[in-house]
Amino acid sequence: MESGAEVDIWNYVFGYTKMAVVKCAIELGVADVIENHGSPMTLSDLAAVLRCEPSRLHRIMRFLVHYQVFKQEPTGQHSMGFSLTPLSRLLMKHGENTMAPFILLESSPIILGPWHSLRARVLESGNISPFEAANGMDLYSYTEANPCHSKLFNDAMACAARVAIPALIKGCPEVFDGVESLVDVGGGNGTALSLIVKQFPRIRGINFDLPQVVAAMKNALGS
Ligand SMILES: C[S@@+](CC[C@H](N)C(=O)[O-])C[C@H]1O[C@@H](n2cnc3c(N)ncnc32)[C@H](O)[C@@H]1O
Repeated sequence: MESGAEVDIWNYVFGYTKMAVVKCAIELGVADVIENHGSPMTLSDLAAVLRCEPSRLHRIMRFLVHYQVFKQEPTGQHSMGFSLTPLSRLLMKHGENTMAPFILLESSPIILGPWHSLRARVLESGNISPFEAANGMDLYSYTEANPCHSKLFNDAMACAARVAIPALIKGCPEVFDGVESLVDVGGGNGTALSLIVKQFPRIRGINFDLPQVVAAMKNALGS
């Protein structure tokens, strides 16, 4: 075995830990708490606000510092604190360009389930999707029956749109030249379309999606 392979294999053995630890940090709200604090936070301050067991939180933070999700900076002559990096800003629950909802979706048991039976899907022929085989119904029937998962899904799509659409508008504004009305088919909660219409107010936007997605969007808008 080549020496590189002996190192690489551990990425396969423990590859899931990155997703698990980042998910834990999002759910605890680590990045949000540090942002609200406004300066690097010591472990004991962070643990106190998050109501965590300090030595366990320390292990989580050490992992995340190793992968440059957070960094450590002096908070005094003899103390160090945790502060944000560009990566942890993407994990803030309500950050402008947060990707936290997408991580929460992809790390949910419902989405991870199909991956556990990938071998069976590769062996068989037929049209059943891995999602349907694992969860008993197709993705959009599942979201219709499970409003919490539907919200998780729509929030994830919306956060990706908040990153992609401004880049599209900035990089290729000419694609909207002469466009007067625009239908976003499968437009989710309308995030992509609303960003486009905000930038080009002359465009009449129509967001088209499944009834439960449109209903949830109307509820969120209070109309
Ligand atoms: C992968 S998501 C994309 C969401 C959005 N376009 C975006 O990029 O953020 C696909 C969307 O298609 C919608 N969809 C699926 N089947 C549909 C159908 N038969 N009619 C209308 N919308 C549908 C889903 O509810 C979901 O919002």
